[in-house]
Amino acid sequence: MNILNETLTLSNRVEIPKLGLGTWFIDDDKAADAVRQAISIGYRNIDTAQAYGNERGVGEGVRTSGIARDELFVSTKLAAEIKDYTEALAAIDGSLQKLGLDYIDLMLIHAPQPWNDFRGGDYSAGNLAAWQALEEAHQAGKIRAIGVSNFLQTDLENILQHGTIAPHANQILVHAGNTPSELIDYCQSKGIAVEAYSPIAHGEILENQDIARIAEKYGASVPQLCIRYTLQLGTVSLPKTSNPEHMRSNARVDFTISDEDMEALRALHDTDYGEQAAFPVYSGK
Ligand SMILES: NC(=O)c1ccc[n+]([C@@H]2O[C@H](COP(=O)([O-])OP(=O)(O)OC[C@H]3O[C@@H](n4cnc5c(N)ncnc54)[C@H](OP(=O)(O)O)[C@@H]3O)[C@@H](O)[C@H]2O)c1
Repeated sequence: MNILNETLTLSNRVEIPKLGLGTWFIDDDKAADAVRQAISIGYRNIDTAQAYGNERGVGEGVRTSGIARDELFVSTKLAAEIKDYTEALAAIDGSLQKLGLDYIDLMLIHAPQPWNDFRGGDYSAGNLAAWQALEEAHQAGKIRAIGVSNFLQTDLENILQHGTIAPHANQILVHAGNTPSELIDYCQSKGIAVEAYSPIAHGEILENQDIARIAEKYGASVPQLCIRYTLQLGTVSLPKTSNPEHMRSNARVDFTISDEDMEALRALHDTDYGEQAAFPVYSGK
């Protein structure tokens, strides 16, 4: 079966395509082309964020793709710095306006703390304020599903205990070399779908010889093995590429990694992100 046609069902019955296109680092003026290319190849799930500065281009790509809006799944993220109810409401409307869409399929709180204090102070009240805005926009029909990103178990517990709606998804760093098994299990036990971001470690994993050896066994490329790995963990996988050849090959993952190799990949530790290590999400916190 073609992975591009497979979906996972969120706890509110909304279906999310299992393979999506990440758009971080695709410039706004290139985003529409990349999104149209991906959709013409068969991608139906597109992931952006206010912080990527390309919602306008992503929305244009979606609107001009020639595919009906209700066949596409568009995610964006509330900026990590917004921890205030009124600001969050305004920012949600801002995303709808930039995207030029009547509704968003999934909107996530980008991180539990602002980026300049990632894994730092306590923003539990601010996260609840932002969450309340997402809940209201969801109830108003502006967002079909709501979730979080980079949330650890304690951050999730805050929302589960004090929110009205349980998060439908948590988008976290998952790749061969960095598998947060306990957090994945916790999310799945609470009915929170896990989305794997940076499934090919932002590109750094391409040099990993252990992974290359395993990929070879399956006649797969390293990106294909890495994407397949995240899918077999039960997560939605969000590889980024603006290259149509990579879009095509990243969707050719119709093979099964053996239990033994899944365990070998799960046990791997490789969190060297090279020049990108300065980003908070790769800080190892
Ligand atoms: N929620 C968060 O905090 C968060 C954080 C990070 C990422 N994300 C999301 O997850 C998405 C993916 O993460 P990411 O962009 O960090 O990294 P990634 O998908 O792990 O890796 C992207 C890199 O791999 C290259 N690549 C992709 N397919 C390839 C192929 N078949 N062969 C060779 N190279 C290939 C891309 O270059 P080319 O473009 O040249 O193919 C790019 O340099 C993001 O775009 C974003 O949507 C979310």
